[in-house]
Parts: sequence; structure tokens; C-alpha cells
Amino acid sequence: MFKRFCAVLFTALLVSSTLLAQTSTLAATPPMGWNSWNLFAGRVNDKDVRGAADAMVSSGMKDAGYIYVNIDDTWQGERDAQGVLQANSKFPDMKALADYVHSKGLKIGIYSGPGEKTCARYAGSLGHEEQDAKTYAAWGIDYLKYDLCSFRQNMMAEAPNDPAKQTQMMKDAYEKMHKALLATGRPIVYSFCQYGWDAVWEWGPSLGANLWRTTGDINPTWDRMTLIGFSQAGLSKYAGPGHWNDPDMLEVGNGKLTLDENRLHMSLWAILAAPLLAGNDLSKMPAETASILTNRDVIAIDQDPLGKQGDRVSEVGPVEIWAKPLQGGAKAVALFNRDDTALPITLKLSDVGFSGAAKAHDIWAAKDLGKLQGSYTVTVPRHGVVLLRLTK
Ligand code: GAL
Repeated sequence: MFKRFCAVLFTALLVSSTLLAQTSTLAATPPMGWNSWNLFAGRVNDKDVRGAADAMVSSGMKDAGYIYVNIDDTWQGERDAQGVLQANSKFPDMKALADYVHSKGLKIGIYSGPGEKTCARYAGSLGHEEQDAKTYAAWGIDYLKYDLCSFRQNMMAEAPNDPAKQTQMMKDAYEKMHKALLATGRPIVYSFCQYGWDAVWEWGPSLGANLWRTTGDINPTWDRMTLIGFSQAGLSKYAGPGHWNDPDMLEVGNGKLTLDENRLHMSLWAILAAPLLAGNDLSKMPAETASILTNRDVIAIDQDPLGKQGDRVSEVGPVEIWAKPLQGGAKAVALFNRDDTALPITLKLSDVGFSGAAKAHDIWAAKDLGKLQGSYTVTVPRHGVVLLRLTK
């Protein structure tokens, strides 16, 4: 009897330590990939997702490190008599789609929420959490974005005048799906989407979040992108390997963002160690867009194994200097110009932790600047950035 008990205990410990190991190595660096929402919104279908996977490979995105092909809202159909959720007619065979994406050496993500309905009013997971997690695992899903949406109404209805109870309900709902995902035994990156409410960065990681949205939705405009990006100041201490702040997907290559604005967007997200989820049409990507999304030196900043998010060092009017610690004592330093005209910006090396001198590489100019002494002044274009890698 005692021997049996020990054997069961041993197996249980082994299983839970394996699951724990899986969660801690999941998203060891910020997830990179593509998501359907910014481009297709509610129109996304099987063919679009296969096309995105194809283009991820042919465009060089995969080689640059982009791995996840994520289906956002509007894939869901009806539940069958047993409650098992089916995809709708836009996705005739989800397992075959996942197999296809995997055959390209990529991973596949999906979208749901804790409410009865998602934001686009498709079926959510309320009351079917374990079932849905099992369905995702059976299809071969590797990533779940879980969007609060209509669950907000449940919170308001059940605890109209009790914000603390509402928050607790939200936490419980996110944790419930985490447990359901763990129980499948399949490593599935878990992305919280509740727009940064109730300081999610403080509690998200303990409830299983590998990443959590810190803001409302991005759109491809200068104002929205910079409002979101620069509002991340102060959040660096919450991020680390396996758990990341998510200022929303990239809009590089979307809308009317200029070359400099796209470079600023990509640089800021890299300094933030943000997930890099492209949202543009990968199959028709101009060379300029591809060169920004696949810039190896910028990606290396985002993906640095130290896993430290960068933060603001100074802000004087439209000029902001941000820095991110990198492995081996190096630093990424971004000189941002949010003004409508070009401006000279001066970096004092001592402000970013280098006393005296530092070797510098200008990443977008792809140029070594040699050894800098004391300070460095450079003209930064309007709505632009100079991104430097500094080493001793
Ligand atoms: C929003 C979410 C977007 C997108 C959309 C789909 O709540 O922030 O990223 O997923 O729902 O309906």
C-alpha cells in the first residue's frame, strides 16, 4: 500500500515538474510571429492563414525568427451535441490547417475568451474551458490569445458595485483556462488580452500568462502607435523570460506610417522586449517593410537572452531616450524624436551606464561609430529614431 502511494506521489511530482518546466521555457524570449487581425479582421479564412504561413517562409520572416501564425477572432462555429466547439465554414479542417502550418516549421495560434461571446460575437469558452483546451490540443494549437470581451458583462452583472469582486472574477476566469491548458499536457503559449486593466502586469504571470496586453488596441497611425508605445515607461520590472508585457501587435507596413515612423515603431517594440507579431500582408511586402521587420540587429535586441525590458532614461519635450540592458553588459539605446521636424539629440554615455567611453554601432544606418567619448550628438529625423548598440 505504502509503496503504491509512493509510486503515485512520484509520478504526480514528475508530471507537475515537467509541466512547470514546460511553462517556464515557453516564451523564454518574447514570442515572434504574425496575427490575422490587423490585416483581415473578421474576413480571415483557411486560405489566408495558409498564405500567411507560406509568405512567412518565402519572405524571410521565418529565418529572421518569426514562428507563430496566429488566427484571431472569427474562426468559431457551433458547438456539437457534446459541447465540442467546431470551426465555422471559413475553416473547414482546423487540424489539417495546423498540420500544414507545422509542416513549414512554424507554430499556430488561436483566439478565444472567457465570456460567452468574443469581441466579434463568436462563441467564447465560458463553461467549456476544459473542453476547448482539449480541442486546441487535439488540433495541435501552440498559442492561445484569450480576450476578455463579453466576460466584462458577466462581471458587471454579478458584482455591479464591487470592483474588487469583478477583478477577482476576471482573475479566476483567466486562471481557469490556464489550468485547462496545463491539463492538456501540450505546451501552449498563453496570451492575456484584457487591455491592461487592473494592473494585469502585477498578477498576470502568477496566473499563467506568458504575455499580457498592456493597452487597448493599436491602429496604424502615428498618434496611436506612439501613444501606446511610449506609455510603457515604468513597466520594465514586470517582464522577463516566460512573461512579457504586450503593447499589442506591430503595424509596421500598415496604414500610412512612413519609413522613419516604422523604424521608430520597430525600435520601440524591440527596446520594450515586446512580442513581435506582424500584422501586415506578408505576401505583398515591399522590400522596405521587409527590411524593417527582418532587421537582425533590431530583432536581437528584442530577443536578447537576458530577457530584460528596456525603459525610459529621459524625456525632454518631444525627445525621449530609452535603454535596454543586453547580455554581456551591452546596451541598446534609442534616441527618439517625436517632433514634426528633425532635431539634434545628445546622448550622455553616463546616463546609460557607461562611464567615459563606449563602442557604438548605429543599427538602422548599419554603421560602426567607433569609440564614443563622454557624449554623442546626432540629428534624428522627424518622427524618427537613432538606435545604437553600445558595448564597453
Ligand atoms: C479585441 C482585441 C483585438 C482583436 C479583437 C478581435 O478585443 O484587442 O486585438 O483580437 O478583439 O475581435
